Amino acid sequence: MVSSYNAEMIITLDGPAGSGKSTVARKLAARLQIAYLDTGAMYRAIALRCQRHGCDFNNPTQLIANATQAQIDLDCGPTHTRVLLDGDEVSEAIRSMEVNQATPYVSRIPAIRQILVEQQRRIGRDLGSLVSEGRDQGSVVFPDADAKFFLDADLPKRAERRYHEMLTDGVDTTYEAVLENLRTRDGNDQHQWAPLLIPGNAIQINTTHLNISEVVDMLLKEIERRRSILKPATQS
Ligand code: DC
Repeated sequence: MVSSYNAEMIITLDGPAGSGKSTVARKLAARLQIAYLDTGAMYRAIALRCQRHGCDFNNPTQLIANATQAQIDLDCGPTHTRVLLDGDEVSEAIRSMEVNQATPYVSRIPAIRQILVEQQRRIGRDLGSLVSEGRDQGSVVFPDADAKFFLDADLPKRAERRYHEMLTDGVDTTYEAVLENLRTRDGNDQHQWAPLLIPGNAIQINTTHLNISEVVDMLLKEIERRRSILKPATQS
């Protein structure tokens, strides 16, 4: 019996910081053996470049000029994202608290979003199949994605996860600082620039009381279900 089904598949994962989406997206991509696109890393890389070039973060013209010149290269392997900025390895540097705080200044500028949205679509076209993670992937970047998920969790739980993630990354911070940072980011999410949208046809999952493998299993089950619907009749 021959199954001819091996179609390309775009899966989007959106949600607020600390919802578990990065870890889930990475593990999901690894299980499916397809690429993982960390779009937050791209916004972080632009913020880092602006910092390194001494930009005034309240001057959009400077920020846009910097974003236009940036050369971002991502290694979208399922185990860890490697980020090159103008040829420089910045995978760790983009995870600092300073970059965390600077990134919203660039991600709220429509012209910068447009530059990165186009790059993300190009990566999608080049790779064919991927798990793309961010906050606008199912709503703006890949509206025709094959499966869309939106993860959320209560604020204290999200802060706890983010805090442990940052400790693992070697960032010197406190739970209280992370909680405050997320509270501000949640506030920013309500603004009209870069709104955090739940795509209409996304499956919403509250991960507060779930562990990572439980969430990954739920997503895989849904993806399998969709694949079996799409699967052409097998030939003998
Ligand atoms: O997911 P993250 O923490 O790495 O995201 C970093 C920042 O970039 C955060 O401020 C949200 C923003 N972001 C965005 O505006 N759009 C995306 N697609 C991904 C991230």
